[in-house]
Amino acid sequence: MEFVYNALVVLHFIGLASLLGGFLVQMKSPEKGVNPAMLHGALVQLVTGVLLVGIASAGLVPGEEVDHAKITVKLVIVLIITALAFVGRRRTPPQVALWGAIGALTLVNVIIAVFWN
Ligand code: HEM
Repeated sequence: MEFVYNALVVLHFIGLASLLGGFLVQMKSPEKGVNPAMLHGALVQLVTGVLLVGIASAGLVPGEEVDHAKITVKLVIVLIITALAFVGRRRTPPQVALWGAIGALTLVNVIIAVFWN
């Protein structure tokens, strides 16, 4: 099960790359909006994050413990990101506020993931 867990961590990083990369690539564009990479990255983060927590909570990977407060905050933030991304995909760019909010919230989740111990 450790292999599956580690594979999910790899996918979690790919989801982060897609979400943040989709945001960063538009930094100089006048038509900023929510691109498919951002929406798909958000969904990958949601699914892989929940699966990681499920596996760790079930005690299937020795040494992996779940910080429930941290995970709850990350989950709420990713749900907001995903909702904003769905709204943004239905509208035509520019959507600077939605684009900026998703980028900022993604950065917040990275900071929480790394600094909240
Ligand atoms: C935008 C959304 C998210 C971002 C940017 C993000 C980012 C990250 C990053 C950078 C790490 C690696 C941290 C480290 O190893 O020091 C990580 C790990 C992790 N994340 Fe997320 N995450 C997101 C959403 C979620 C969600 C929604 C959940 C659960 C519901 C979650 C659960 C986890 C778990 C369990 C780990 C630990 C993996 C391990 O090292 O064993 N994440 N996340």
